[in-house]
Amino acid sequence: MTVQELFENTFGLSAETTSFAPGRVEFIGNHTDYNGGDVMGVAIDKGVFIAASKREDDEIHMVSTISDEVVMRRLSCLEKPLEGNNSWTNYPIGVICSLLKRDFNLPTGFNIAVASNLPVGAGLSSSAAIELSTLHAIMQLNGFDISKADMARIGRQSENEYVGIPSGILDQGTSSFGKEGSIIYINCKEEDFSVLATGKKLSLWIFNTDHKHSLVDSLYGQRHQECSEAFDYFKKLNPDLESICDLNLEVLQEHENNISLNMFKRTRHVITEHRRVHAVKEALNESDLNRVGKLLLGSHRSSQHDFENSIPELDFLVDTLIQQEGVLGARLSGGGFGGAVMALTVDSFESSQAEKVAEAYKDKFGENRQTTFFNTYASDGPRSIQSL
Ligand code: GLA
Repeated sequence: MTVQELFENTFGLSAETTSFAPGRVEFIGNHTDYNGGDVMGVAIDKGVFIAASKREDDEIHMVSTISDEVVMRRLSCLEKPLEGNNSWTNYPIGVICSLLKRDFNLPTGFNIAVASNLPVGAGLSSSAAIELSTLHAIMQLNGFDISKADMARIGRQSENEYVGIPSGILDQGTSSFGKEGSIIYINCKEEDFSVLATGKKLSLWIFNTDHKHSLVDSLYGQRHQECSEAFDYFKKLNPDLESICDLNLEVLQEHENNISLNMFKRTRHVITEHRRVHAVKEALNESDLNRVGKLLLGSHRSSQHDFENSIPELDFLVDTLIQQEGVLGARLSGGGFGGAVMALTVDSFESSQAEKVAEAYKDKFGENRQTTFFNTYASDGPRSIQSL
């Protein structure tokens, strides 16, 4: 069922507008965003569709393809996020709350239908995609003109303040600025977004582990906390320090014995990862994809051993992928503790090769744990969709 059909079946009339916003892969820059570092993301050709109309009252009615239930909230009473099965509605509602906090005038509520073609739990940021497609639809319905940077900020604000995840700007920035044939480069300290045309289309393969650590949100929060403790420690020594990404490795090493092993390893990951982002940018400028691939693998190893946000399934996929002909590099993409691996390949890498990787995964982890995969390319950001 398309999102427009879902809307019509639920609300009995056609939607006034239909929007789409893409999911993303984190190309490189693992956990650098909320540490004031640089990061590169790619908006993909899968994402979230929203069909929406204004209502005459202050109610917001939401339905999605994952459940028949229509969830209702009121504009005047949105303070509390929902828990349980209906918690997916916190993403559109979070956006509405951010708009209200920013003094946008929302005189009426909305009917909203949601559909997604992103694999669930793959760490491809369905949350940013639902936030930005909701925002895009509301902009169309209310005639709001909001810059791409502010769209990203509104999405992040709703995630941080309403949903309650202390994430950085990578997901919303990449989705908002997404452009075909381009990587989105974000200098997170300055919140400066650039769109880097890659020249040649980069072929990306996503392999979903179909496995998520049960504590994924709290582990993300724990890493965030460890990094901010490291920042506080080094800031005391050097009050001019703006982020741990700016720290010299030599300074970190001098303090190795004064800090915990975890603090040392997390900080080393963030410093070296920020440098790898710069190195990838340089290698892309020189069209040196082999070097890009090596840096992607270096990033995975650093996540695996220093940031410790990998899981055996992700490591297995990376290790298997890099042995295949035509794979230039592979790494976990996104928060970690589950989710997906992204591989950069030559154009001739084929589905039959991907199948082999999937077979090996099944052999290793058993029938019940299968990887799903797909090939994707950099795609455009939020937009209106006429008909599906
Ligand atoms: C998640 C967060 C991002 C970023 C990545 C890790 O995707 O939403 O902000 O921190 O993890 O790099």
